[in-house]
Amino acid sequence: MNFKKEIAKRRTFGIISHPDAGKTTLTEKLLLFGGAIQEAGAVKNNKIKKSATSDFMEIERQRGISVATSVLAFLYKDKKINILDTPGHKDFAEDTFRTLTAVDSVIVVIDVAKGVEEQTKKLVEVCRMRKIPMIVFINKLDREGKDAFDLLDEVEQELGLTVTPLSFPIGMGYDFKGIYNIYEKNINLFSGDSKKNIEDTIAFDDLSNPDLDKIIGDKAAATLRENIELIEGVYPPFNKQAYLEANQQPVFFGSALNNFGVRELLDCFIEIAPPPRDKMAQERLVKADEQQMTGFVFKIHANMDPKHRDRLAFVKVVSGTFERNKPYLHVRQDKKLKFSSPNAFFAEKKEIVDTSFPGDIVGLHDTGNFKIGDTLTEGETIHYKGIPSFSPEHFRYINNADPMKSKQLYKGIDQLMDEGVAQLFTLELNGRKVIGTVGALQYEVIQYRLEHEYGARCTYENFPVHKACWVEANDPNSDEFKEFKRVKQKFLATDKRGQLVFLADSAFSLQMTQQKYPNVKLHFTSEFS
Ligand code: G4P
Repeated sequence: MNFKKEIAKRRTFGIISHPDAGKTTLTEKLLLFGGAIQEAGAVKNNKIKKSATSDFMEIERQRGISVATSVLAFLYKDKKINILDTPGHKDFAEDTFRTLTAVDSVIVVIDVAKGVEEQTKKLVEVCRMRKIPMIVFINKLDREGKDAFDLLDEVEQELGLTVTPLSFPIGMGYDFKGIYNIYEKNINLFSGDSKKNIEDTIAFDDLSNPDLDKIIGDKAAATLRENIELIEGVYPPFNKQAYLEANQQPVFFGSALNNFGVRELLDCFIEIAPPPRDKMAQERLVKADEQQMTGFVFKIHANMDPKHRDRLAFVKVVSGTFERNKPYLHVRQDKKLKFSSPNAFFAEKKEIVDTSFPGDIVGLHDTGNFKIGDTLTEGETIHYKGIPSFSPEHFRYINNADPMKSKQLYKGIDQLMDEGVAQLFTLELNGRKVIGTVGALQYEVIQYRLEHEYGARCTYENFPVHKACWVEANDPNSDEFKEFKRVKQKFLATDKRGQLVFLADSAFSLQMTQQKYPNVKLHFTSEFS
């Protein structure tokens, strides 16, 4: 087997969007193209709806679905495509941020009527910071929506991207006739009133060809010619290198529900999207085609069966081949581990595999060895970086509601934090434990899981915190730092890794503290070296 060929075949990416823009629908259509599923509706909707917030069984059911759809792999035109699922619900945004450390590129789905939405902004911002190549898919063209040019402007301004359209709609909503594929220079038309069938692709190298008027009508043809001329005048031509360096983002238009524009997107994607990329470790740059296996854990998922507390750790293979039953170094614990049943993912199934390649995701059964961010190697001590914690939005004290079960409670909290469900802070002053989350939903998930998986019960108490900031002292022995620690003791805590954290109770107090202690740096993420 040719190792380099295997690497070149792989495309590992994530689809990001604001909820309801069409991520699930698009994923499903991509799987249909790959023949990985036979019918529409096969991909379960991995959405946690608002109404589910108080329905624990629903949360459980959703968790089950999210295991099944964590990685969806399929083959298409000799490429192995791995789609990593990214939860759209904002309460699980941190999960999505972590998944973005394991993708080599992303597709951003935007609703043509709603335009750029809040969740899209946050996720694209992370991708921009990480220089992840992005393709934009504007969805729901079968509905009335914003003018295509206005939308392109909005994407540029609100998301800070530099776009270049690679397809363009002919009409929209009721008048939607089809798509002109700028990249392939052909036209795709909807046929019939149902807008369900796609007519054959018609090649159109030259839009001045009078046949265009016959096919789509004089008016639509004139508008299309005008629009394409405008695009050529305003937008830079597609530049693959600029896309790969995240300096340019190609845009496609279509309708995922009607399977329109999806093939064009997929065909272009497999051609331009990057194969597994080299990755920066703290120690050095690791190249995907190095022979030695390295990989990192980006997600941990609890087993669905509460009687067995084992978990599935998702490892992205960065370099080399991951082999079954071969001992690998767990760098943080400095111990060798062997895995007898590593899972690979295909469509919606997982199965045991002997060998995985860079770009692949391997699911490892884990009884508590792994934390998010852990690195596996063949012996070299390297640490992959880039999975920082962000300040949570909500903070609550956690109290033990059953004194007989405190051991179970602390074990449960410990393991749930390793999974990345929430962040734990221990107050310096009195050792009380505070749980920080991105959304309120997590508190219910934690309470439910502590009870059902660990037999422990907890209650919460509000703890008003504006922001958690990780503390870095220019000189830990300085009087300034000592005073900071003494005066602010009430607001200081340590996170799970023992790093000092300042829990500011208001924006004002944060600002005052920064002014008063200029040599104590307050960071908004846990990684700042
Ligand atoms: P998400 O994963 O991004 O949250 O979105 P999802 O695919 O679930 O799509 C959200 C809604 O938008 C769904 O309708 C879906 O059918 C619809 N949708 C997706 N693509 C298109 C499109 O191209 N055109 C139109 N008109 N609608 C589209 P729903 O009623 O919320 O859900 P369902 O009952 O159909 O599952």
